Amino acid sequence: MQQKVLEIFQELFGAEGDIRSYFSPGRVNLIGEHTDYNGGHVFPCALTIGTYGIARKREDRKIRFYSENFSRMGVFETSLDDLVYHEEANWTNYPKGVVWAFKEKGYVADTGFDLVMYGNIPNGSGLSSSASVELLMGVILVDMFGFEGLSMIDLALLGQYAENKFNGMNCGIMDQFAIAMGKENQAIFLDTADLSYEYAPIEMKGAKIVIAASNKKRKLTDSKYNERRAECEEALADIQKQMDIKALGDLTEEQFEEVKDAVKNPVCRKRAKHAVYENQRTIKAVAALKAGDLETFGKLMNASHVSLRDDYEVTGKELDTLVEAAWKQEGVIGSRMTGAGFGGCTVSIVKEEAIDDFIKNVGEIYEKEIGYAADFYVVEIGDGSRRIG
Ligand code: GLA
Repeated sequence: MQQKVLEIFQELFGAEGDIRSYFSPGRVNLIGEHTDYNGGHVFPCALTIGTYGIARKREDRKIRFYSENFSRMGVFETSLDDLVYHEEANWTNYPKGVVWAFKEKGYVADTGFDLVMYGNIPNGSGLSSSASVELLMGVILVDMFGFEGLSMIDLALLGQYAENKFNGMNCGIMDQFAIAMGKENQAIFLDTADLSYEYAPIEMKGAKIVIAASNKKRKLTDSKYNERRAECEEALADIQKQMDIKALGDLTEEQFEEVKDAVKNPVCRKRAKHAVYENQRTIKAVAALKAGDLETFGKLMNASHVSLRDDYEVTGKELDTLVEAAWKQEGVIGSRMTGAGFGGCTVSIVKEEAIDDFIKNVGEIYEKEIGYAADFYVVEIGDGSRRIG
């Protein structure tokens, strides 16, 4: 893969000079969904699939981007003097937003660069290809321009800042954090209230993580996502009239049950319920995993899906079909939607000997119900964004 991207770079932009190679993973969240902008916990991990980038500094102020995933769009050309969102700049608004975010925070690139990318994260699958690209760009900028004093967590925050302010998606910190801080075979138990975190080894005793991509075209994801976020904020504001809390993640289930009537709008009350219960589920799930109780972990994953379906309402027919079919299969320890929802993918923990049947059976049910096929990936947990050559 790396070699192929290098060849594309050389063909497009020439083989001379200091050409460097980078990799940035995708991520999957095991549990803790829509909690990261509510001061709650998440439990994601980085994957071994991701985005490769080959880059070289220029002497002028031009920036040229090309992605083999969007080869039909060709080379996009911009410059350090045009760090502005343009609809027609399409996917390049993600890396450009990061260059802009660096500049906003005082890390000013003094020359442009050429960059070729190629990713093996399925497009629009909900495995966070955008955050992968953001962190790739962050690592490239630090490495090529020698910016000092930026930790990987700072790069995650810069990526989120770019996504929020440049691309208008009010995402939390989970994706960028997982991608920046990923570690082979470990998931990250992150408290988004203060960014404290710990790594937890994923030992699954003969089971594997299987991702099913719904292949549903994800329209309106960003606007619906921002709407959910606003509903949680409304619920929090109502609760704060009665209780001194900073975020919904501060509440236990019992506290929420006591105070829930303070939330006037019943829709916002349901959203808040999910945020509170999902946070507690995540804490319990990690404790179960640490105790070697994978079965409880799986049950909590299932409960997470039910809550995302009924209270948070971000699943939809495609994700529900995949998960409900998965629950019926032999050897499935747990299954749920993962990521923002409204499309995207599901994550299941499946015993190795059952994986082939799982893919066959769930695939058939999905195609019959939905009318087109899902794609399945057995994934491995890998390291965070880095230079590779
Ligand atoms: C998207 C966002 C994350 C997080 C998830 C839902 O992936 O980018 O910040 O909110 O949705 O858990």
